[in-house]
Amino acid sequence: MKNYDYEKHVKGESQFVDDLLTPAGLLYVHIFTASVAHAEILKLDYSEALKSRGVVDIITAQNIPGENQIGGIIQDEPLLADNEVHFIGQPVAIVVADTVLHAKEASGKIIIEYKNLPVITDPRLAFQKGELIMPPRLFACGDVDNTWSLCDHIIEGTTESGGQEHLYLETQGAFAYPLESGGIKIVSSTQGPTQVQRAAAKVLGFPMNKVEVDVTRIGGGFGGKEDQANAWGAIAALAAWKVKKPVKVILSRQDDMRMTGKRHPYSSDFKIGLSKEGKILAYQATFYQNAGAAADLSPAVLDRTLFHAVNSYYIPNVSVTAISCKTNLPPNTAFRGFGGPQGMFVIEAALFKAAEIMGVDYHKLQELNLMEEGDSFHYGQKIENSTIKRCWDETIKKYDVDSIQKRVDEFNKNNKLYKKGFALMPVCFGISFTNTFMNQASALVHVFSDGSISVSTGAIEMGQGVNMKIRQTVASVFSVNIDRVKIETTNTTRTANTSPTAASAGADMNGKAAEIASRNILDKLIKVACDKLNTKDPSLITLKNETVFCNNKPELSWNQLVQVAFNTRTNLSSHAQYAVPDIYFDKDTNTGKPFAYYAIGSAVVEVTLDCLRGLYEFDSVKVVHDYGKSFSYVVDRGQTEGAIMQGLGWMTIEEVIYNENGKLLTDALSTYKVPDIHFTPKEIKIEFLETVENGAGLKGSKAIGEPPLMYGIAAFFAILNAMKAFNPHKEYKLSSPITPEKVLCEMYSENVTVPA
Ligand code: MTE
Ligand code: HPA
Ligand code: MOS
Repeated sequence: MKNYDYEKHVKGESQFVDDLLTPAGLLYVHIFTASVAHAEILKLDYSEALKSRGVVDIITAQNIPGENQIGGIIQDEPLLADNEVHFIGQPVAIVVADTVLHAKEASGKIIIEYKNLPVITDPRLAFQKGELIMPPRLFACGDVDNTWSLCDHIIEGTTESGGQEHLYLETQGAFAYPLESGGIKIVSSTQGPTQVQRAAAKVLGFPMNKVEVDVTRIGGGFGGKEDQANAWGAIAALAAWKVKKPVKVILSRQDDMRMTGKRHPYSSDFKIGLSKEGKILAYQATFYQNAGAAADLSPAVLDRTLFHAVNSYYIPNVSVTAISCKTNLPPNTAFRGFGGPQGMFVIEAALFKAAEIMGVDYHKLQELNLMEEGDSFHYGQKIENSTIKRCWDETIKKYDVDSIQKRVDEFNKNNKLYKKGFALMPVCFGISFTNTFMNQASALVHVFSDGSISVSTGAIEMGQGVNMKIRQTVASVFSVNIDRVKIETTNTTRTANTSPTAASAGADMNGKAAEIASRNILDKLIKVACDKLNTKDPSLITLKNETVFCNNKPELSWNQLVQVAFNTRTNLSSHAQYAVPDIYFDKDTNTGKPFAYYAIGSAVVEVTLDCLRGLYEFDSVKVVHDYGKSFSYVVDRGQTEGAIMQGLGWMTIEEVIYNENGKLLTDALSTYKVPDIHFTPKEIKIEFLETVENGAGLKGSKAIGEPPLMYGIAAFFAILNAMKAFNPHKEYKLSSPITPEKVLCEMYSENVTVPA
């Protein structure tokens, strides 16, 4: 089964927000933003700008009819700056004009005066100054304090992991127009239409039923549009309401990079205690999360860091603390993995360092500590039907890690200027929103009288293939050809109160809702068939390949059945909700069973390092992953490869740099480097583990969107191993991304000369 969107994408036929047919009289927005990272606004004068050619209106915080507030989890984020600005790129005024150019021109004529305030960009400094988004969070089990004395090895260290730009191909944007009822309709590039609806309604002072949000698909989100599409949706809606005309907001690439938040950078301290055999006895860590100037999704991201702080390892005594630090940067946000990768990076760094000090292989230490069936995580959830060891063992066996080791050692013996390194990475990623209430979805299915089917859910197609999965699910319930099933746009008037498509749970939850709604209709159709075929026993009726069988005898076509149902006034529509069963979490004790199940796998990454230039090439990434019963090898492989590339990029060449004034220096693709085809590993092998159907997933499958990103973490340690082969005398910083520049600076910092 392929992703149906691909063909349209290739032909350029897929529509994104900026491709929509636009009505006559459409107006455009340019957003005037803060040019300093922390200041009091002394003066804002837009009188000249208002006279600029083509300008229709300029809107500031004073014009907001409802609440100037778009904070989701914590109400701490104004839509438009009022008295103070808190980061460079913060929206201050909305310039509405007849063209983008005119709006931009006028924006340049706005006069603003600031009284500068101290700028903080470093999370540890923010912590020292008491600038926190919320109180620290602690997850713990066992007794760490009393375990250190039992440990043969205690290793402490500090790690850094960097931010990451989402770089969705479609930049943020929205299009809004007034409706005759006084309401507003917004077409938004968002992962969360309900969230855009809620934010816009609040800003306008409307009840939610006066705001309709519609999404066909988005050109990538990667978490960047889970929360951060809200501002642009609300701005378009506010402008459309004020000028009573259709209005479009599309951020330029540079504005998008400058104004929106990214993956949270973390600075962390760890302390790990091991027995002489290498079993981890205790693990303590403190995570300083760089949240930026407002909470956004930071508290939820912070929790997932704590959930995944032990990755796939069993540790009896754990105490991990996470602190969300408020800095003068754009609010950082969801990014594929949602804090999980940041947590896993630290435990891997701790194990890597422990292996170094203990003189054992890093991957042997990893292996020794893998969770066993029935082990519990530090927050209490037991791992059931675990494939952690199976994936790991198959990775070792299938890809012959022993011979990789031999080859690498041999290569390093024979080469002075090039060194190889490899590393493994197990991944165990919890599937469910960690906020339990968010684990619900709904769907509306119609069977039309001609036998065609329409499906609406809360899922957003962003390239991950969720529409294909839902389409296939519905087609299989009715046993009809998939071409009969149409996935409708995601619209808040058809599916209400939806969670964003996120947490890798979009297909699971929306697919299950669509499955339930379809079954409801199927049940009715079977009754109709019973009546028509004069049988009382519904178990005798089956639908297969568009044919109705009674007692295994073909009797009616799908079309005939639907026609009879319609003529007998049967309800051919159903709305259904799906709430993930059996999950709960106590936010006071931080224990419970927050996840429906775990996504699991292992990878080995091999790299060749050019020690003269600091450049590296990935020889291979080889994976064994548990997909449950996969829907589609093509789509799941695509998700895996894409996530791996994003993980590799995060760990290596993608470097978000702000200067001390809070100005983003990497605000274009000339300065922010992402993996391209040349960077792609020479070999990517993906093995689908033969496994049982996963009952908690859609049709036995397992969520795949985020988990493989964390395989990229092995890239960091593979490079470090290669660096160690070149200069073993150096203690390398556990600081990612490990860019080629950093590799060079690190390797040569101790009077190491280039070998002859
Ligand atoms: N794949 C593509 N092509 N584009 C995206 O934006 N987002 C990722 C992942 N895969 C993304 C993607 C993220 S962050 C998540 S949470 C999941 O898709 C969301 O979709 P799902 O829940 O249907 O897996
Ligand atoms: N993952 C992704 N998005 C979320 C989550 C989560 O666990 N919780 C709230 N939003
Ligand atoms: Mo994905 S970070 O949960 O949108």
